[in-house]
Amino acid sequence: MSNGRFSHLLRGVWLLWLWQAVFVAGTGSKLWEVPTGSFTSSSNHSESLQWEQDCQYRHLQDRVRITADIPPRLDGTWVSTRCEVRPGPEFLTRFYTFHSSRHFQALQHYYTDSSCEDPTYSLIIRGKLRLRQASWITRGGTEAEHHLSKVGIVVHSLAAKQRLASRQPPTCVGLTLGRVALGKPYELYNTRAGRGCLAALGFSMMEMGLIRVETQHHSHGGKVQELLLGDIHTDWTQRTQYRPTGYQQPLQNTMHHLHPCPVCALVYRSSEQRPPVLPRSPAAPLSLAGRWVSQRCETRPNVLFLTREFSFNPDQHAWEGVYRHYSDPACSQPTFTLRASGHYAQGNPSAKVSGATEFVFKVTQVRVTAVEEPTAKLLNGTGPGKCGRAGGWEVRVEQDLTPTDGCTLLGIKLPHKEYELFKTELDHRKHPLLFIGERPADGSSPDRPQRRPTSFQAPMVLCSGGGTQLSRHNGSGFNSKQVQLAASGTARQAQLVLLVLGSVLFSGFSVY
Ligand SMILES: *[C@@H]1O[C@H](CO)[C@@H](O)[C@H](O)[C@H]1NC(C)=O
Ligand SMILES: *[C@@H]1O[C@H](CO)[C@@H](O)[C@H](O)[C@H]1NC(C)=O
Ligand SMILES: *[C@@H]1O[C@H](CO)[C@@H](O)[C@H](O)[C@H]1NC(C)=O
Repeated sequence: MSNGRFSHLLRGVWLLWLWQAVFVAGTGSKLWEVPTGSFTSSSNHSESLQWEQDCQYRHLQDRVRITADIPPRLDGTWVSTRCEVRPGPEFLTRFYTFHSSRHFQALQHYYTDSSCEDPTYSLIIRGKLRLRQASWITRGGTEAEHHLSKVGIVVHSLAAKQRLASRQPPTCVGLTLGRVALGKPYELYNTRAGRGCLAALGFSMMEMGLIRVETQHHSHGGKVQELLLGDIHTDWTQRTQYRPTGYQQPLQNTMHHLHPCPVCALVYRSSEQRPPVLPRSPAAPLSLAGRWVSQRCETRPNVLFLTREFSFNPDQHAWEGVYRHYSDPACSQPTFTLRASGHYAQGNPSAKVSGATEFVFKVTQVRVTAVEEPTAKLLNGTGPGKCGRAGGWEVRVEQDLTPTDGCTLLGIKLPHKEYELFKTELDHRKHPLLFIGERPADGSSPDRPQRRPTSFQAPMVLCSGGGTQLSRHNGSGFNSKQVQLAASGTARQAQLVLLVLGSVLFSGFSVY
């Protein structure tokens, strides 16, 4: 898709949103109310769905309730719960403190390796954050603006010093990275100078542009608070300008985190001069067999909320993925479900991300179920041969898109091949986690080896008793409490068009 057409369509999306904004404003919403104000009963308090360990998908009333305050309350200290992988790849741990004065200090420790055992350098970032408004693009998120006042660097190893020096521009606040002493802090940026140094490091705090805080209330009275900050563009050249529309892996509040969290403790005790050295996580042999599900309602850049469910049958190299799409950040209002299947081949261990493995996925069949009337109508309006049986769409009746080689409206083209990066790890309870490659932030698909991801999406958990049987699921697969739409039909329609447009605009079909 050419850039011109892309921006034209994008403008269309913006107009839709603006229109909806006007609609919401017209119904008396205040600045802080989310644009979904007309769709959900409460704006600063949303319950979420979660998977039970046996992978029964249900509304949790008695176990964990998830709420999100809008605007988010950031005060406090937030830390990484594992070695994080960013596109590039970059490996880091984060330790962020927000003060009620709106000042923040962000400590980022970088490493050479995917287990965060070998620190290279640490950045101390000081600045001020101003929350702006509820995001119109990523509902449930809050937009913010940050202002940096100072960035300092401490280099931890000779190799890191050499690598940094080779990337440093000639003018850089009078600092020559090739001559710094290891373990000593140096100023890399202040309000007068140093932009060039930051750019050379690929440094950006654009992640502060989109913020969400989720609180999990456990039935035994405990709570866990997570801070979701904006996603990092998967293309290195875009990352310093990209305004996030999705999230990175959450940080956890040091007062309210999951127990045990050995990584949290190590990060919390760190300083710029003493970076945390994480213990090597026990190598979990890569075994995909079984059924894996999302741990939370996932937010994908560009207005998609979804949960994923994958089944793999290694003997037959067969896989199936079920993507349940929703219109709200709590995943309570389903729109459509997509069931894709095909074959896969395991490749070599990744040279870029140690511990990860390369894969190639082939999508040969996609079936779609509209779970609500507007989606069914929209799909029903597509011409013959474009998207399943023309005029044959009904709510909760699955359609096979294979005879039409996909669906142009949904941006699905069959058959389709993707180059993937997978990793498995054990969580704090020693349960296996599956990490699947991050989708390109521009919505394209990793359909060439050069586009293979270098970072990961939110991990999925293995269902207990996960066998090697492929799941037998009805496409809709959603039988928990339906939230009735209080919304006006037109606003709802606009939102849906946006959702579907979003898929067309930003994705070729994806194994997500
Ligand atoms: C938001 O939450 C606060 C406290 O949690 C509550 O007092 C207030 O009524 C809520 N506002 C809305 C619009 O739900
Ligand atoms: C889809 O189109 C057919 C034929 O035009 C129509 O009979 C049917 O009611 C439509 N279904 C929906 C859900 O709009
Ligand atoms: C859903 O699954 C059940 C049993 O697995 C089957 O009997 C039923 O026909 C399915 N419904 C649809 C709409 O596919």
